[in-house]
Amino acid sequence: MDIILFAGRAGRTLAGGIAAALDLTVGRSVLEEFPDGEIHVEIEEEVRGRDVFLVQSTCAPVGRNLLEILLLADGCRRRGAVRVTAVIPYFGYARQDRRVTGKEPIGARVVAELLATRIDRVLTVDLHNPAIEGFFGIPLDHVSAVPLLAEAFLSHRSEESVLVAPDLGAAKLVQRYADLLRLPVAYAHKIRHGGDSVTVREISGEVRDRRPVVVDDMISTGGTMASAIEALLEKGARPEVTVIASHGLLAGDARERLAALPIRRIITTDSVPRGENLGLPLEVLSLRQLLAERIVELHRGFVPQN
Ligand code: R5P
Repeated sequence: MDIILFAGRAGRTLAGGIAAALDLTVGRSVLEEFPDGEIHVEIEEEVRGRDVFLVQSTCAPVGRNLLEILLLADGCRRRGAVRVTAVIPYFGYARQDRRVTGKEPIGARVVAELLATRIDRVLTVDLHNPAIEGFFGIPLDHVSAVPLLAEAFLSHRSEESVLVAPDLGAAKLVQRYADLLRLPVAYAHKIRHGGDSVTVREISGEVRDRRPVVVDDMISTGGTMASAIEALLEKGARPEVTVIASHGLLAGDARERLAALPIRRIITTDSVPRGENLGLPLEVLSLRQLLAERIVELHRGFVPQN
């Protein structure tokens, strides 16, 4: 039994990198829209008896990208794949992991259950909330880009650097960076008013005359980062900011928001595809090696059931 990789439209570049790291090529498939808006998929490779890995992030357009995973998986199963693993570098809906107003669904659970209808296993990177593994009735493998991101910052680290959690949800994450980078930590206290509206009320920790390194699991609209950075500057931090996040979605007005701030570098990964020349100081690290290694481990540990 061997490995075969396929990619959804939001996973093509990364899948190409993972395939190259595994000395493979990405399996051929058709992914197109019918005139009525339906997605049409064809699996153009022989998958009978093979261990299939589908690479696709569920970033925007989220519904389309999610459905592509399900359609690709269904096509592979019907063609006789032995196992189908979804490699979802950025897992959308992860932030909808609880009812805040009591009026919403639990989106993360709905997505987890939907995936389990066609997928045998999920491999993902830095889930917003690792506890959502409990929503899955199938095995979920979770790898972290934090060591990779921390290492990329090492050459910029100085005695004046201070790590900052832009909200209390990032408290554990900032501690992981602190352990790797041996730097002091400060915390911003954020209040969210809506999807793209947040304010930071105060900062705990010493930031005056220090160079802030703000770390989070993701940058979506940039609102969290922007208000944390503004609060840091008000507290006397130096206007030499580094931003580190596993997932750089850069949705909505993120580009404009971040471009207006004294950010020296934004260190992130290629978990979501994004256009070139955004006018931001992006340093994008590839997840290809990390994911390729975990795919090999999962494949080697797999014993097919007859
Ligand atoms: C929130 O809990 C997350 O960890 C991020 O801080 C947040 O989702 C980022 O979103 P935005 O960039 O839109 O503020």
